[in-house]
Amino acid sequence: MLSIKNAIAGKIVEKIKLLNPDATMEISDITAMLEYPPDSKMGDLALPCFKMSKTLRMAPVKIAATIAEGFDAPCVARAEAVNGYFNIFLDGEALASKVVREVREKGDKYGAPTFGEGKTVVLDYSSPNLAKPFHIGHLGTTVIGHSLKMLHEFAGYKCIGINYVGDWGTQFGKLIVAYKKWGDRETVETGGVDALVDLYVKINNAVAEDSALADEARAEFCKMEAGDEENLALWKWLVEKSIKANDEIYKQLGITFDSYKGESCYTEGMPVQVQKLRDTGLLKIDDGASIVDLEQYGMPPCLILKRDGSSLYPTRDIAAAYDRKQTYDFDKAIYVTSAGQSLHFAQWFKVVELMGYDWYDKLVHVPYGTVSINGEKLATRTGNVILLRDLFALAIEKVAGIMEEKNPNLEGKEKIAEQIGVGAVVFYYLSNNRIRDINFVMEDALSFEGNTGPYVQYTYARTCSVLSKSGDYDKSAALTITAPEESELVKTLARFEEHVIDAIDSYEPMVITRYILDVAGAYNRFYHNCSILGAENEQIKNTRLALTEAAKTVLGNAFGLICLAKTEKV
Ligand code: ARG
Repeated sequence: MLSIKNAIAGKIVEKIKLLNPDATMEISDITAMLEYPPDSKMGDLALPCFKMSKTLRMAPVKIAATIAEGFDAPCVARAEAVNGYFNIFLDGEALASKVVREVREKGDKYGAPTFGEGKTVVLDYSSPNLAKPFHIGHLGTTVIGHSLKMLHEFAGYKCIGINYVGDWGTQFGKLIVAYKKWGDRETVETGGVDALVDLYVKINNAVAEDSALADEARAEFCKMEAGDEENLALWKWLVEKSIKANDEIYKQLGITFDSYKGESCYTEGMPVQVQKLRDTGLLKIDDGASIVDLEQYGMPPCLILKRDGSSLYPTRDIAAAYDRKQTYDFDKAIYVTSAGQSLHFAQWFKVVELMGYDWYDKLVHVPYGTVSINGEKLATRTGNVILLRDLFALAIEKVAGIMEEKNPNLEGKEKIAEQIGVGAVVFYYLSNNRIRDINFVMEDALSFEGNTGPYVQYTYARTCSVLSKSGDYDKSAALTITAPEESELVKTLARFEEHVIDAIDSYEPMVITRYILDVAGAYNRFYHNCSILGAENEQIKNTRLALTEAAKTVLGNAFGLICLAKTEKV
């Protein structure tokens, strides 16, 4: 639709120039002004002319009437001026042919903008603290982050996904204490992450009872920082175990990372940044600690070094950002974390600016809300946290149960149950505005009828099934539009690229989940009201198959943007 909007806007600009040769109206200004009227009686596109009346010094009614006079543009059936609006009605068949042709030509690139070409984006997401349970709090950063990566890649950006694992800090001191007290190599080797979580929970409970243990943990961590070989070997092994366990989850989601450079990698890079802070006079000593005062920016001070000289989270982030700029020369660096860390990012972004790094304005923090779970008895042996793995397992188990009733002979049903179970969780999560707090209700997420992952995956499978039943069909035949549901579907498919742009601009994958629901809704209304394989004649049948194929491609492309598997059979 964007190309149509641009073509229409071009014609409108020509008309405006007739009205006022000095008008500095660009095509892109008009494209941005074009609206989708809420009621199709008012056209498929409309230009509210009052927005230009000030610049043109002319009444909106007059502007609309002048534009409407003898208006002609590709895919436009007719256009009229009504109350200062210029309303445009598209030619259903011309639009259908254009959309179908474009989808065929572009395939898995259909809907892709190109503004990212030649640019690089670094995305820091998932980034769990190792040695701690991978719980549902990480769902947001993992799926929002990956979706943003897919969206940017789709738009042509070169993307680097970084899992900035929290592989350094006192939590390792604690785990080492626990391991030395209660653990052994074999239990961890065979028990994997469960054994680590057990140790972690046990030590946390013990620390709560006996504060001497906390000192012991700190001491073990200090030994690590001082290069103690035994502890570092143990640390390395524990990190490997944790990463391997998290990999299972990434595999279920179809996520891979380009870099696992975590917090521990910046012990060497930090002193340079600290020195620069000192040289620029930004560093102040406050009660023994080193800070950057941010009072005049309305923020508490950014802590750089503790009293004992050890580094802090912001210091590591500054060193890591500097390293990423050197390594990747990014045009944008995106950080996806819970909204609880918004202040941390605002602070160190400010410090980077004060340090004089000219890339400070390329840093973007994308926050999201909290997740809670209602009505589900998930294992809480980890205290109050719910493991992401257990949430996925429950969803998969429930889907497998539903499928056993619906379609017990389905080939490869285990894999499909996994794709739908995981997809249900992801889709439910990404259906909400990212900043809102979410209460997860499994029954709602898994329903095949609501606005859910299973519903849209089922719709995708429906398009596949129609096409496999039809076999080959004549793709060269002209399309004929005979039902309103066909037009509605075409118009929905035509708007994909605009939604992709909107999702990227607002760092909001929800735009894509909502769009997927629009496409699924339009396709299902079309499917129920228009007979496809039993259509009245060949031309109508070919048209409907072509629309089905286009819907399949668009759904598939959009699924790829939000970690949703393309299920051909359900
Ligand atoms: N490891 C941190 C946590 O789990 C998130 C890291 C986010 N990325 C960053 N560059 N600070 O809370």
